[in-house]
Amino acid sequence: MGSKAFVANDAEWCYHGGELVRLGDVRLSPATHALNYGTGVFEGIRAYWNEGRGTLQVLKLREHFERFERSCRMLRIELPLTVDELCDTTLEILRRNASREDTYIRPLAYKAAEAIGVNLRGESQLTIFTVPMADYVELTGLKVCVSSWRRTPDTSIPARGKLTGSYINTALAVDEAQRAGYDDAIFLTQDGHVSEASAANIFLLRKGQLLTPPVTADILEGIARDCVMELAEKELGMPVLERDVDRTELYAADEVFLSGTGFQIAPIVEVDGRRVGTGSIGPVAERLQNLYFKAARESLDGYEDWTVAVEVAEGARQ
Ligand SMILES: Cc1ncc(COP(=O)(O)O)c(C=O)c1O
Repeated sequence: MGSKAFVANDAEWCYHGGELVRLGDVRLSPATHALNYGTGVFEGIRAYWNEGRGTLQVLKLREHFERFERSCRMLRIELPLTVDELCDTTLEILRRNASREDTYIRPLAYKAAEAIGVNLRGESQLTIFTVPMADYVELTGLKVCVSSWRRTPDTSIPARGKLTGSYINTALAVDEAQRAGYDDAIFLTQDGHVSEASAANIFLLRKGQLLTPPVTADILEGIARDCVMELAEKELGMPVLERDVDRTELYAADEVFLSGTGFQIAPIVEVDGRRVGTGSIGPVAERLQNLYFKAARESLDGYEDWTVAVEVAEGARQ
């Protein structure tokens, strides 16, 4: 049930302190600012293994690093690399690790001062590491609840930044949901509208109309959300309406599904113990899921620029 844990391997190459090193050789002080105060920003990027071509296909690489840069700006974190250099460094790590399986890439930039004092001054550090990652959640139908925890409002912590400290909000909601037997949690905003899931954006189908909460609903502006909106409009002829969504619309919807790099396209079959639609994956979610995976792992006409391919020969591991 729920999301799974994917463990990093110390022998893998990562970027840290301006060079490529083994993950196991990186050591941090317990005094590190970000560890004490949550002053870090991160990204989650997926690379899909294509067995036929022998390539890892990195999905929306540049878009993730552009968001990373925006998140850094929010916390006054200076990046030592440009977006292009971040992309190139990531591709080099994938080449060195030569992993021939689905891989998750985790860039992390954080306040590195080893000093007590809460502020946004002081030097920053950049790390990029990878972990093997299969499906993070079941893709055949999640059972979720509306969380008693509200999504952190943008007036308290920037919601559209991917900031490490914000994920306490996520962890509390996931913990509550999973202990109660659900797979994941849906956050409401402070004013009671639907925001997003623990680490994914949410879509509903109501009366033939696809809906999603707007970017002002304290959501992370998801990159997979953009993918879904593009596929829905271009491939299904169903433009997505961004508008406030009430809690009970989740109960009334014909389909509900989540989008996210980790979650991918994950249909929801139950909300607060109420069946969604027929109680199994709906036709619109299923088509979008198929299109998304085709564009990511294989290729879909017109969407070739969604991925960057890294060739990984057998036995290329360094
Ligand atoms: C809070 C939150 N919302 C939404 C998303 C989905 O964003 P993306 O599609 O860019 O992965 C994520 C995952 O990264 C997330 O952590």
